[in-house]
Amino acid sequence: MAMKSAQDEPQLSLSQFFSASAARVDRWRTLNRLAKALAAGGTNAGELRAEAIAVMAELGPIEDLNGYPGPHLMARLRERLEEADWPALARMVMRISGALLADSYREAADAWNAEEEGDAHVPDILPPGVSRGKDRKPYFEILIVSPAERSLWPEIRETFRRLRRDEDLFVYEPVVVGSFEDAILAAIFNYNLQSVVISDGFGFVSQHAVPALKEMIARNLPAGYGAGMNDMGTALARLIHDKLRPELDLFLTTDRDVARLAGSDEAAPLRRVFYGVEEPMEIHLSILDGIKDRYDTPFFDNLKHYAARPIGTFHALPVARGKSIFKSNWIRDMGDFYGANLFLAESSATTGGLDSLLEPTGNIKLAQEKAARALGGDRSFFVTNGTSTSNKIIHQALLTPGDIVLIDRDCHKSHHYGIVLAGAQPLYIDAYPITKYSMYGSLAIKPIKEALLHLKAEGKLDRAKMLVLTNCTFDGHVANVERTMLECLAIKPDLIFLFDEAWFGYARFSPFLRQRTAMGGAAALRAMMRDPEYRKRYEKFKAESGKLDAKGMLEKSLLPDPDKVRVRVYESDSVHKSMSALRQGSIIVVADQDFHTVEAPFKEAFFTHTSTSPNQQIIASLDLARRQMELEGYELVQRAIQLSIEIRREINNHPLISKYFHAATPAEMIPAEYRQTGFADYGTPGKTMADTARALREDEFFLDSTRITLLCGNAGYDGSQFKGLLASEHDIQINKTSRNSVLVQININNTRSDMAHLIKALADMSRAIDKRLAEGGDEARAAFKARVKSLVEDVPDLPNFSHFHDAFRDNPKSKTSEGHMRAAYYMAYDAASCEYIKLNDKKIDDRLKNGPELVSAKFVIPYPPGFPIMVPGQVITQETITFMRKLDVKEIHGFNATRGLELLKPDALAARKGKASDR
Ligand SMILES: Cc1ncc(COP(=O)(O)O)c(C=O)c1O
Repeated sequence: MAMKSAQDEPQLSLSQFFSASAARVDRWRTLNRLAKALAAGGTNAGELRAEAIAVMAELGPIEDLNGYPGPHLMARLRERLEEADWPALARMVMRISGALLADSYREAADAWNAEEEGDAHVPDILPPGVSRGKDRKPYFEILIVSPAERSLWPEIRETFRRLRRDEDLFVYEPVVVGSFEDAILAAIFNYNLQSVVISDGFGFVSQHAVPALKEMIARNLPAGYGAGMNDMGTALARLIHDKLRPELDLFLTTDRDVARLAGSDEAAPLRRVFYGVEEPMEIHLSILDGIKDRYDTPFFDNLKHYAARPIGTFHALPVARGKSIFKSNWIRDMGDFYGANLFLAESSATTGGLDSLLEPTGNIKLAQEKAARALGGDRSFFVTNGTSTSNKIIHQALLTPGDIVLIDRDCHKSHHYGIVLAGAQPLYIDAYPITKYSMYGSLAIKPIKEALLHLKAEGKLDRAKMLVLTNCTFDGHVANVERTMLECLAIKPDLIFLFDEAWFGYARFSPFLRQRTAMGGAAALRAMMRDPEYRKRYEKFKAESGKLDAKGMLEKSLLPDPDKVRVRVYESDSVHKSMSALRQGSIIVVADQDFHTVEAPFKEAFFTHTSTSPNQQIIASLDLARRQMELEGYELVQRAIQLSIEIRREINNHPLISKYFHAATPAEMIPAEYRQTGFADYGTPGKTMADTARALREDEFFLDSTRITLLCGNAGYDGSQFKGLLASEHDIQINKTSRNSVLVQININNTRSDMAHLIKALADMSRAIDKRLAEGGDEARAAFKARVKSLVEDVPDLPNFSHFHDAFRDNPKSKTSEGHMRAAYYMAYDAASCEYIKLNDKKIDDRLKNGPELVSAKFVIPYPPGFPIMVPGQVITQETITFMRKLDVKEIHGFNATRGLELLKPDALAARKGKASDR
């Protein structure tokens, strides 16, 4: 990303924004090439020199925001350039660019030397402790926002360097900036930053104008911000904390009345407030203390101590301490494979330094508190049996028999089973379909409101307890959490929201996606309900909307009454799916202002579903995943997003690959009516970062770039076939499939080499198809065309939820479709109430035409699409049968092709009809 003057700076595009770090490395690469050419000598030295000077000028502003290579090495480089010492310049540039490329400056002391090995070291610029050895101290950078003249900045940096002590656990390099805007730039672009020391009195305007960034800043600050703004320091802290990187430790040094300031709301985002230039050592220690707070992993640390102690065990779990393994004649390879630590760290004890997941009072409690902080909730609960269990816990904790729960039928099956367990009545709402890719999108706001308004009209609103939404969906549809909640709360002010964020936990660490997470939405709502500005907006809305009828309420964007709203938000999150936890590591995060009213049932539900032997390693990995995300989540997620945007661009612009494959764009995945700003793709020419930021704020749905629906129908492959081919011939594993697509999921572990691997495989496959078609003659080409048509055009309609059979409805005439699913589920336990009919039996068609109705006894869940196309008690329609008959997948839970569909018998249903409801 070039940072030039405001006049010639083009608006920053999304891809430029995300590729800023790659662009930086690219510039170093270019400089490396130029310096090498200069060192090699040649006729065009003048031209090369001019180019090198230009690249250095572009790098200057970027490097001002980074600790490495830092001003000292940059000054040396400039000297080399001015002195035309080409060999020395080439050596130095090679070292710096290599260190940046491999991030090795974080641990290789050599990278910090101006001269090569053997030459004199420059001790004052070397962060001590930077090494690869066992004594390695993790490296980070701090940002100092200072009002001092630029000429004094070296002295400021020196002050902090001189404070380094051998006993420090971490080592940092200071970066100094002099303005509000530069501080924001550094917070965004410097991934090494962990702490910001803000000294009151600095200016506002950046030396480097980036218009899109200015717009982003403008939108996120209260009116009146700018050069004349009062309290610039606290405004900066709030912006960094609330909008950019909440995990950073923020410190303020000020001459203002510190006692008053420290106790005020303005100081809430600050870790500490210092008076004037107080003892710098205090600041240094506070910085290290802040890092330690994030670095400490209370459960994992204790587990390590436990493993190192000579403990004799006289209870269950023979693998604990590994003696049954390492002494074994026959399973010693188990020990060799997993290593001794796994067994030393295994224990079924909850004492001796370990804690109990079921009744945490020590390090698990602390670890959960830290995880809640990291994920933005009030409290969190570790779950060691996946989000499947987290969901069931939440359902059982919050719902009682007879409650109505509004739910996307497309939700993960754990929700449907959870509702059966709780005895609540699901009111299924269909997500918008994306028929051409044979998948569902997400649940739009309008049908949810419609359901709530019907419940209201029929006097059942009090029973509507919760809304369940998958966010984001498997395929990357991200809801506008804030708007969804506002509109629902306007109809039912105490509705509880369960956002299934099994796939979306990492989003917390992206400043863009965070606002669309459950906890991001909860925080926004809380702030809004306290904000006098919102109250004014609400009063205006109330006056304008007068007495809206149901139709009016459906059409208008609603605002809830701040005096009535209860913010009650639950998030379930498969930490193992998007962060570094072991499989099944999941977490429930809660921001519920009425949690005290459900704390006891929550505990019961937690007890119901939690093993009394929870896996210690899973708990430890949850603790560690939290540490990682709090310290490097921002960098990892930014890089993953950047990679996903590049992969999309590479696939869709590649002349050969794009003949057969295509990465579905947001415009293709999300109907236009839900993309109100018109956002169509990442990196559309002419669109800026600010456009993307607006889409993220305003559009009803946004497509997560890291979920790439790779369409393979045009290559003649269905999803399962293509998945198999990628695995067997290219060693590539991908996520789920649909009829004509596979899902490529980019995570925090993916690298540029992974990208190259995928692109190479697609190019190889495309070449093979080209060859096959060229050599196969007309017949082969016709067969290919027919296959493509069948995959791309003859796609079965997705069956919507029909309705529950009257036997399971309190009022069959009701406009809302909730039903007693649990009664249907248990009816199927009685074999005498069930019958089987084969899918292709003519009886099915006869009964569809003439009755009696076909009623499912089971959840029937084909993989893909992975959601129940039938639930117990649901009346089966022609649509569902047609879909089932066209299904070409092997795995269908709840359906045995040999026996046929399992149905509830008409006489059993008749016997139940008219019975009292089973609340
Ligand atoms: C939306 C959703 N929720 C929950 C789950 C269950 O998560 P886990 O595998 O952690 O049990 C899944 C699993 O694929 C899912 O897709």
